Amino acid sequence: MARSRQPLIAGNWKMNGLRADALALATGVAEGCKQARWTDREVLVCPPATLIMAVAAAVKGSGVLVGGQNCHANASGAHTGDISAEMLRDSGASHVIVGHSERRTDCGETDAAVRAKAEAAWRAGLLPIVCIGETLAEREAGRTLQVLETQIKGSVPAGATAAKLVVAYEPVWAIGTGKTPTVAEVATVHAHIRRVLGGLVPDASAVRLLYGGSVKGSNAGELLAAGDVDGALVGGASLKADEFLAIAKAA
Ligand code: 13P
Repeated sequence: MARSRQPLIAGNWKMNGLRADALALATGVAEGCKQARWTDREVLVCPPATLIMAVAAAVKGSGVLVGGQNCHANASGAHTGDISAEMLRDSGASHVIVGHSERRTDCGETDAAVRAKAEAAWRAGLLPIVCIGETLAEREAGRTLQVLETQIKGSVPAGATAAKLVVAYEPVWAIGTGKTPTVAEVATVHAHIRRVLGGLVPDASAVRLLYGGSVKGSNAGELLAAGDVDGALVGGASLKADEFLAIAKAA
């Protein structure tokens, strides 16, 4: 039976990879996906913007999808150094990550800015992956659910539907640390996220919710089996084809 929410395994390469490494990685992922012939899950890689075109060419025909890691809210204009959603699309991307905590922290991106980027993704025909997550201090203060609710309400544009939105829950303290919430905590948080989305999205039960933060081959099975988890957004472990494929296999 087809699952109503097709799992999505997304690799966020962050600011890693020069052309040779990136093409070897992309080719490795593409080969693995071709052999596996998955029709019940989606595999996405999000390379640095400089490599999107080359990676899109390298994975062509394998079913592997390609996404950007950020976009500007505008389609074009005087924004030196920025890249629009239209440019990502033109380079071969179908998805874009918006509001990653590293951009919220490094670049001061607010919920309103993230929302504008998600709208830009729609305008360009890209599927936005909207990231949310609490910091360690917020978690320790018992504010996780409240923080996430504020982020969702501020970052998800009006008019969102399950076909036009993916949400990634990435606890900031779990990113790159080897620490993860328990499976029960992930399930509780994802159920909360879906409840909050219920007030914003007509078909919230069909929105895909990804977990991100120290996902690796060895813990993917249990994290992906948690209630309301429909995939993973993977950082470090997406830089090794075997490890990333092991996560995709677990989905
Ligand atoms: P790690 O998988 O390296 O913890 O990174 C998670 C992440 O930030 C993905 O966007």
